[in-house]
Amino acid sequence: HRDLHSFPTRRSSDLPQVHYNNQPIAVVVAEELHQAQYAASLLKIQYKEESAKLDFIAGFPASYPGSHTGIPGDLSFGDVEGGLRAAKIKIDQIYTTPIQHHNPMEPHATMAQWDGDHLTIHDATQHISGVQKTLSKSFGIPKENVHVVSWFVGGGFGCKGQIWSHVVLAAMAARQVNRPVKLVLDRPQMFGPVGARPETYQHLILGATRDGKLTAIRHEVHAHTSMIEDYLESSAFPTRVMYSCPNVATIHRLVQLNMGTPTYMRAPGVATGTYAVEVAMDELAYELKMDPLQLRLLNYTDVDPHTKIPFTEKHLRECYTRGAERFGWSKRKPEPRSMRDGAQLIGWGMATETYPGKNLPSGAMVRLQPNGRVLVAAGSQEIGTGMYTIMTQITADVLGISPDLIDARLGDTNYPEAPISAGSMSTASVGPAVQQAAMQARAKLLQLAVNDARSPLHGAAVEEADIKDGKIFLRSAPGKSEAFAALMARNGNQPIEAMAQIKPQLNEKEFSCHSFGAIFAEVAVDPDVSMVRTRRVVAVYDVGRVINQKLARSQFTGGIVWGVSLALQEDTAVDPRTGRIMNANLADYHVPVNADIGEIDVSAIDIPDPRLDSLGARGIGEIGITGTGAAIANAIFHATGKRVRDLPITPDKLV
Ligand code: MOS
Repeated sequence: HRDLHSFPTRRSSDLPQVHYNNQPIAVVVAEELHQAQYAASLLKIQYKEESAKLDFIAGFPASYPGSHTGIPGDLSFGDVEGGLRAAKIKIDQIYTTPIQHHNPMEPHATMAQWDGDHLTIHDATQHISGVQKTLSKSFGIPKENVHVVSWFVGGGFGCKGQIWSHVVLAAMAARQVNRPVKLVLDRPQMFGPVGARPETYQHLILGATRDGKLTAIRHEVHAHTSMIEDYLESSAFPTRVMYSCPNVATIHRLVQLNMGTPTYMRAPGVATGTYAVEVAMDELAYELKMDPLQLRLLNYTDVDPHTKIPFTEKHLRECYTRGAERFGWSKRKPEPRSMRDGAQLIGWGMATETYPGKNLPSGAMVRLQPNGRVLVAAGSQEIGTGMYTIMTQITADVLGISPDLIDARLGDTNYPEAPISAGSMSTASVGPAVQQAAMQARAKLLQLAVNDARSPLHGAAVEEADIKDGKIFLRSAPGKSEAFAALMARNGNQPIEAMAQIKPQLNEKEFSCHSFGAIFAEVAVDPDVSMVRTRRVVAVYDVGRVINQKLARSQFTGGIVWGVSLALQEDTAVDPRTGRIMNANLADYHVPVNADIGEIDVSAIDIPDPRLDSLGARGIGEIGITGTGAAIANAIFHATGKRVRDLPITPDKLV
């Protein structure tokens, strides 16, 4: 901006602190991107250097407890010391996972425009109402003055769930220059100021009888956070629900580092935690000389192991059975290095998958329009999961109207508020609200039909009226029918509208709600160069009702691809002297391409879970990444006889 030079020079007394490498410290605005980039290169920044905290393990003595989404990080039940003393076999190991960055294809991007004290924001976000609330608070203007729009999001994976500094900076810049401002992070800028999965160090102890019954589990997690905010990677949360075990301790400790604040990423906690637990279970099976699947079945639980309350629905046994069949698990030779294909070492590994079933309050509206089309709208987000399709499908089902006639709208704070698109919760949150709004609109329409003297349905009981293919008809005399648009045309051409507001209905004191799955993986390892190939994965899920098979398959598959990535590829490399991220680009930060992924066979048990929500759907966005890291790691052990407990399992660790 041409006024750059007129900005005041800061005095040393109000020098801001820089907490991490790549922290935003200035915004340069210009007519064009390249002008702005050049102008930014002219900035001369002086720092007074202070020593940085960058050694994760050295920070353990100063670590402290944390919580995740309000759930305490520390929870124990039974007598773990006693359970470990009673154990005949123990597994006591450290599992570590690296810092990872979300790397959606679309970078973070915000456009801000002021009109007086009204602010319009176009943003790449998983949470439009969160952006609205944050900006309203930051600028001290009413919520209604902030209009946030986000029609499509090019991938989020958690990093677009929080509202980061660039969103506020774009709005500040737009106010400063009194023009619309567009602020797009470039790829290297996405490593630091917009979250990451923190590094974890997980000390896991399993105790078991000679028969393989778990007597105790102790899962202690250290995870890093930043100097400015706490975020906890809740890796031991899945340990609380997975197996029947009377004595369990789960402990989480935060370690402050001079890094950007970490955040939710692809099954936060659960992806890294199931990796550790499920590798430890494989180690236990190996010690016991027991089939790994057999060990899981032996420790199967039909109740929540902590609270002893039942699960809303749990059909994991069927997942194990069907998955094992589809994979051909019974043909596995138990000894490591015993299966080959030519020179390649073949390994088969399996793991249990899990993810909490949850939902949040949501609104939605449905409007029947005189032109025969139907509008369905909610302030949700389309992050690539298919929310437009789900909203369309649910509305079409309730109204008996072809999906072609339905216009789904989302990603706008002018629509009824819906929750963040995260935590695999959108279908179970927004879906029931859409269903309710559609049912209310339908009821209003049918009432109008039986009340209208010129309607063929006039005088009938409203319960006798129904809709199919856009036509209202009488069940007892289907010939008595007319298009709903004709009815509306006669009644002043007014739209019929219904708004719904749904609250979570699950009684968490009575039922524990979790999804489960079983995953089986085959890897081939080249014995000369230790290169691992994921040949095939079979996974079977119990996620409640599947609303759309095609979208479900895409979600499961995507999760598994990220699980392969967790096991073999992703690894943010930090310079230990400066905290600079050394692979802040997609050439050096490896994510899978098609050639890295073999066959993926996914299916779902598809038994509805009506205790969570009226659709009986528990959500499927994240469960696919859980367990996958362990299944691959266990397959690599089976192929090579080498147990790597430090992700990602790159060839150097196998040589
Ligand atoms: Mo997801 S990591 O809950 O956005």
